Amino acid sequence: MSSKIYELQQEIRELLKEKNAIMLAHNYQRDEIQEMADVTGDSLALSQIAAKTDAEVIVFCGVHFMAESASILSPKKTVILPRIEAGCPMADMVTVEKLIEKKKELPGVPVVCYVNSSADVKAESDICCTSANAVKVVNSVKGERVLMIPDMNLSMYTARFTKKEVIPWKGFCPTHQYLKPSDVLEMKKQYPNVKFVAHPECTPEVLDLADHICSTSGMYKYAKESDAKEFIIGTEMGILYKLKKENPQKKFYLCSNKLICPNMKLTTLEDVYIGIRGMENIIKVPEEIRIPAKKALDRMLEISRDQIN
Ligand code: 13P
Ligand code: SF4
Repeated sequence: MSSKIYELQQEIRELLKEKNAIMLAHNYQRDEIQEMADVTGDSLALSQIAAKTDAEVIVFCGVHFMAESASILSPKKTVILPRIEAGCPMADMVTVEKLIEKKKELPGVPVVCYVNSSADVKAESDICCTSANAVKVVNSVKGERVLMIPDMNLSMYTARFTKKEVIPWKGFCPTHQYLKPSDVLEMKKQYPNVKFVAHPECTPEVLDLADHICSTSGMYKYAKESDAKEFIIGTEMGILYKLKKENPQKKFYLCSNKLICPNMKLTTLEDVYIGIRGMENIIKVPEEIRIPAKKALDRMLEISRDQIN
């Protein structure tokens, strides 16, 4: 680690202490951010922490919908998103107007909303889910059909494990969508008999080639508990930091060098320092949206209460 990174991390640590702040980082963040965060995790784990932390300030190193969820769950806390423009293109593939239109076509059909969505979309949904609990959430809602937004790949994956009819929305994550079966087959040829682990945001054709499918935190668990020594990884490259750190005797190969989310890579240590020093880029959700959005998140958290990621 360079001395500049080390110094900046020290200064951030002091500011975090001074402001009674907690630093949360998603598993796709840059290595030096993950290295110093108080907690790293997947979307579910980070929302569970945001809901119960005693800290007054949450510095959220991730993308907009994640910081927004933290603010929805903890309205009295100050939630900082160090790079305000760090968004999620998949979340932008559903708007509240389009969702309201669709709901009119499907009266009475519950809406299950992936947390990768904006607050106003959550507010129009019955319950949220993450990649770690989607099947559980879909099975928990009443009725034979559900509308699942916005990720069509997660919807199709979930449909494999439920008797309900899952109506998908046509959104997708560009980072996972562009991983092709040919990329996987090439890697499997290069590394024969190596386990391929994929995120459910990948296409069904890619998932068909996977030995294991799980959320980002599920990958840490799988890598740790598996007897295998080598893995081909089908998700964003940021995951490699902790996989390698926690399993120094094992080898991890990124399935493709296309697996980079530009939004997740925006946040730097400098941004974190500036954000917390000036208490800048605060995420706040108006009460009329926050309250119904919180209901959808709370329902999900209630179902996932015992799920440790
Ligand atoms: P996880 O919930 O598995 O961390 O994935 C969320 C995601 O796609 C972040 O982009
Ligand atoms: Fe959104 Fe995909 Fe980036 Fe996750 S990896 S933030 S789903 S674009």
